[in-house]
Parts: sequence; C-alpha cells; structure tokens
Amino acid sequence: MEARIRARVNLALTFFALLFFVAGSSPPRQFVISNAERRIDLSSHIINVHLTLKVENAGTRPASEVVLALTPTEVDHLAMVDASAIKGKRKKTTSLRLEVKPTELPDAPPIDTKYFTIYLANPLNSGESTTLEVLYVFTHFLEPFPAEIAQSESQLVFYHDTALILSPYHIKQQTTFIKTPSTKVESFIRMEPTNRVGTEIKYGPYEDRPPYSISPIHVHFENNSPFAVVEELVQEIEISHWGNIQVTEHYKLIHAGARHKGVFSRVDYQSRQSSNGASSFRYVRIVYLLARLPPRVHSVYYRGEIGNISSSHLRTDSLKSELQIEPRYPLFGGWKATFVIGYGLPLQDFLFESSDDKRYLNFTFGCPLIGMVVDKLTIKVVLPEGSTDPSPVVPFPVEHHLEAKYSSLDVVGRTVVVLEKKNFVPMHNSHFQVYYSFKPIFMLAESLMLASAFFMLFVACVAYIHIDLSVRK
Ligand SMILES: *[C@@H]1O[C@H](CO)[C@@H](O)[C@H](O)[C@H]1NC(C)=O
Ligand SMILES: *[C@@H]1O[C@H](CO)[C@@H](O)[C@H](O)[C@H]1NC(C)=O
Repeated sequence: MEARIRARVNLALTFFALLFFVAGSSPPRQFVISNAERRIDLSSHIINVHLTLKVENAGTRPASEVVLALTPTEVDHLAMVDASAIKGKRKKTTSLRLEVKPTELPDAPPIDTKYFTIYLANPLNSGESTTLEVLYVFTHFLEPFPAEIAQSESQLVFYHDTALILSPYHIKQQTTFIKTPSTKVESFIRMEPTNRVGTEIKYGPYEDRPPYSISPIHVHFENNSPFAVVEELVQEIEISHWGNIQVTEHYKLIHAGARHKGVFSRVDYQSRQSSNGASSFRYVRIVYLLARLPPRVHSVYYRGEIGNISSSHLRTDSLKSELQIEPRYPLFGGWKATFVIGYGLPLQDFLFESSDDKRYLNFTFGCPLIGMVVDKLTIKVVLPEGSTDPSPVVPFPVEHHLEAKYSSLDVVGRTVVVLEKKNFVPMHNSHFQVYYSFKPIFMLAESLMLASAFFMLFVACVAYIHIDLSVRK
C-alpha cells in the first residue's frame, strides 16, 4: 500500500517536473538559420519587411516551433505579422500559411526582446531544413526630421533598425536590402560590407552571427508620400430585410507627416502646380482621397463636417465603384479633416442564408479609402429587429461586444455587433461574416406597426375634419 502511494507521489513529481521543464524552457535553440534575407520597403509610410529564412533543425529531436524576435519598439508599431512555408524550387513554389502567435519566453537576453512563435505544419526532423517567409508590417515608424517643413520643402524622415537581424538563433549567412522611395538619401550608417545602388542599400552578406547579435543603423532619406492616417473610422452597416444595406462612415483623417510651417499660399500652390508639372511639384500633401466602394452602390453622399469640400466624384462599373473626394484645401502635415461618407447597397449582394438556417452578412473588413493606416477601426453591424444569437467571424483577432440601438419604428430595439481593430493596414483587407438567427414574424410586427400607425393617423384626420372647432356666437 505504502509503496503504491510512494510510486504515485513519484509519478506526480515527475509530471510536475516535466511540466515545469516544458513551460520554463528558453527559446528552443535546436534551430540554426543557414540563410536569411530581409527586404525592407520604405517607399510609403507603411513599412513592409519581407524576411526569408532557411531554417535547419540542428538538434536531435523533431521540432515544430520556430521563434521570431522583435524589439519592444517594433512590437509597438507592428500592424501585422504573417508567415508561410515555401515548398518547391524556383518557379514551382507553393506557399502554405502558418499560424503565428505572440509568445512569452523567460530567458532574458542582453537586449529587450519580444517573441512570436511560428507553428510549422509538420515537425522538422533532425537535420532537415525548411524555408519560411515572414511579412512584418509597421506603421508610425518613420520619424520626420526636420519635424516641421515649409510648403515648398520636401519631407525627410529617419528609419532606425539594426543591420543584423535580431534572432534567438545562430545565423550562418544574412543580407538586408533597404529600398528607399527615391535616390535622395541624406545619410546612412554603414556596416561593412555596405553598398548603395540607386534606391537600394545593401547590408551584408554577414557570416556566422551568434544569437541576439545586433548593430544599430539609421537611414535619413526623402519620403514625399503623404502620411495619410485615419485616426478613427467608425463604419456602421445597417441591415434592413426590406432590401437595403445602409453604410455610414465617419472619418477623422490626419496628415501624420512633417508638420506644415508658415502660412499656406494658394497662389504659390496653384502657380507651381500649373507651371512646373507634377514631377517637380513635390509638396507633401493629400490632394484627394479615393474610396473604393462595392459595385451597385446607390445614394452615395459625402458630407464634410466643416463644409470645406469642393467636389466629390463617383465612377461605377460592374466590378467596383470609386468615389473621389477633393478637399478644398490640400491637407498638409499636421492638418486634419473630418467627414462622413454614406451609401446604400442591395441586400442580396451581401446577405446570405447558411446551411443551418441562419442568415449571415458577408462584407469587407477594411477602410474603403485607399492606402490608409487606420489607428482605430470600429465596425458596427446593426442587425434587423428580432435577430438573435449574433456571432462574428473575422480572419484575425479583433475585440468585439454587443450594443443595442433604437430607432422610431422599433418595438424591441436592434442588436449591434461592434468589432474593433487597432492599427489597421490595407493588407488586413478581407471578408468577415456576422451570422444571426431571425424570425420573419418580426417583419410582420414592423409592418403591422406601420399599418396601425397609418390607421391612427387616418382616424385622427377623419376626426379632425368632422370636429367643428369654430367658435359659436
Ligand atoms: C474652411 O477651412 C478654412 C481653413 O482651414 C477655414 O478658414 C474656413 O472657415 C473653413 N470654411 C468653413 C465653411 O468652415
Ligand atoms: C464572402 O465573399 C467573398 C467575395 O465575394 C467570397 O470570396 C467568400 O467566399 C464569401 N464568404 C462566405 C463565407 O460566404
């Protein structure tokens, strides 16, 4: 008896030890990166970093979790991270998307580090290797310097990074390419071998760097793309089973580039525009906005909250509709604009029935204005009255909660599904669905209410006509 208990205690202890070992393990070092290539694109204010890693399992056991390291600053500005495994050679490659998740790892290296884990579809056996492609997207990462510029100056910005890729693994060979929007580069830090050709700076190749090697660099260069940022977008999608979807979008737009210095000169602005042509005309400004809306859009309206819009223009074809909005004043660095866009859409293009007798909305999760970073995107789906069990399906993590909305004809109010996403970039654009149950009796309720309201009005009118209100003598 006693022996048995002891055996059990022993077993429990081993189990806990094992658990502790698994939970407390440092970044798994069984991998070695035999080759790493990083391509950093700085042409707009949304920074794309493509990282190609050839990962080799140098340990003795199969492993399936590859760890990526980023600095805390990078994580603060990270809008998205995406990873895929590349199979095949040359032109016949296929890519398979892999799951990536933020991870806490206890082992503290000399520099502050945050981690993401890539989960391989199949464990990599000892001695095997695989190629991974990682995409990082960063926003608000370029620092305008000088921070203020006059109307005729171009915009210079700083980009800070490390010439060596931060990684928990040993990297046998690595190269980094930085692409600037033009050849106008004021300065950059070298780390030999470093080469600049045209709009590209090449760092490396560097051989045999131990884990957590870094070497800070910066590039100071011209970037005249307008830093168009929507600080907040609230999009309301209201479903009416009577055949329409009404979309209303509230925008708070800011030019987040170098602030505009001095007064705005319209004469200067217009004369240069006509005489010098577009190429030499390099004010950093937002001249017009383009919103890409679904096809078959109708009743489009635009309302600038200060009435400062000169024109908006709608073009439609069978595949898409484009709304071009031109503010009366071009938007310079630091300037803001608030406005509202509204439109109607045919219900049958976006509302469907699922196999389990539910209905669902299938809509684009995104900002219709092209090329925008959205600091805070809120999508509110207003379901028809009487809808129950709403459940949203979004392909990336979002915050969500429910609200209620009442309008004049409502008996019990409508359920509103609220989805919130911070740091939204155009690469996030995708479809999302909101499933819900609906009892058609509620449509009847609404029409009954309408009918009875009209009837009451009718009775009131009849009564009014027949009551003699004249004052008798
Ligand atoms: C339009 O903007 C200008 C400059 O910002 C401002 O002075 C003017 O009052 C605005 N107009 C209206 C109608 O709000
Ligand atoms: C949603 O619409 C897109 C584009 O029309 C389509 O590709 C996708 O399959 C739809 N999703 C669902 C769940 O119906």
